[in-house]
Amino acid sequence: MANYDEAIREAKALDAGDPLSGFRNEFEMPLAHDGSESIYLTGNSLGLMPKRTRDHVNAELDDWARLGVDGHLNARHPWLPYHEFVTEPLARLVGAKPIEVVAMNSLTVNLHLLLVSFYRPTSERYKIIIEKGAFPSDRYAVESQVRFHGYDATTGLIELAPRDGESCLRTDDVLAAIDREGESTALILLGGVNYYTGQAFDMRAITEAGHKHGCIVGFDLAHAAGNLELRLNEWDVDIAAWCSYKYLNAGPGGIAGIFVNERHARSFDLPRFAGWWGHDKATRFKMGPDFVPLEGAEGWQLSNPPILQLAALRASLEIFDAATMPALRLRSERLTGYLERLLKAIATERITIITPSEPSERGCQLSIRVRDADRSLFDALTARGVVADWREPDVIRVAPVPLYNNFSDVVRFASILSDCLALE
Ligand SMILES: Cc1ncc(COP(=O)(O)O)c(C=O)c1O
Repeated sequence: MANYDEAIREAKALDAGDPLSGFRNEFEMPLAHDGSESIYLTGNSLGLMPKRTRDHVNAELDDWARLGVDGHLNARHPWLPYHEFVTEPLARLVGAKPIEVVAMNSLTVNLHLLLVSFYRPTSERYKIIIEKGAFPSDRYAVESQVRFHGYDATTGLIELAPRDGESCLRTDDVLAAIDREGESTALILLGGVNYYTGQAFDMRAITEAGHKHGCIVGFDLAHAAGNLELRLNEWDVDIAAWCSYKYLNAGPGGIAGIFVNERHARSFDLPRFAGWWGHDKATRFKMGPDFVPLEGAEGWQLSNPPILQLAALRASLEIFDAATMPALRLRSERLTGYLERLLKAIATERITIITPSEPSERGCQLSIRVRDADRSLFDALTARGVVADWREPDVIRVAPVPLYNNFSDVVRFASILSDCLALE
């Protein structure tokens, strides 16, 4: 068995010296079977619960109990404008102007609502460019949209695949594909970070290339929001959508978010599926028959939002505002770099990290391919207190999240993985 004593000492010193280490105390850490803290590395799947979430949600329950329907106007945080309480923090988080973001619905629903407005195929320009390994729900969504508009999904979907023998897409290849297909492409929709490989795309370059050819450019930021420093407005992205149960720690099924570039804020001629919460606030309660959309992303809302979920998101975004994304990103690069170094030092040829090694091409996640592994390796890790994620056929995904994971977690994981591989 490898000896990690020195690495453990080093990690403790790194933890002690990092000003962001204290944010771990803001979170509930799940326990392992033996009652010790688990090594939780699945914030890319479900982020941990901030301790303050309970108070924020309870405050709304109390106000509901106390006030009933009056809570819409008289709750401590009135429910009528409640979604507005998260607008500015969300805008800060994704590099947007407040008019460009809103919290609403869930991710796949939002992708469909955005596609209704921004995927406007014509017989000359009807294709959608996506990644070959896109998250299945994204593929289902775009394929169903192509079909919905009466086009053939086999020619309508351009799926970008890595070169033979490679796991990630090369930016040059993505840009070349956009140059090749751009004139017949209506929409480019890529993940900001690919869920499987952990690769982060060059969103600025992709947006610029797409716009050169007149395409709408959008990103699914499920694995990027709260993970990367995003500058959606500066990069001139058209649309984006994300969930908030991963890096945004807003709880299972948490309320999602969208970005619509301010350029489209007053594009009232765009087709859109309408609902009363997207209607002009000044006249919403006049209950007239004609829909008058709000300017900006808010105009894509349909329903009055779930307050308990918004309360959980508000709690989490307070922590992001306190920590700030630039500082978190710096810590994230150090944590993931440290993990990478320890993994490379494990004396086995079986491990390959398929995530890019260049920090600007990844978030916090590393995807580790283990040759000839099956689920039993993953089960052995789980039995030793590691909460990671297994993707068929042979990939373990681990995400040291800078808000609550620390250098000691990373060393403990590397030492357990090393032991489990040695025992196989
Ligand atoms: C990249 C990506 N897209 C879409 C989804 C689906 O999200 P939802 O179930 O919230 O619609 C997920 C869920 O993990 C995801 O990671």
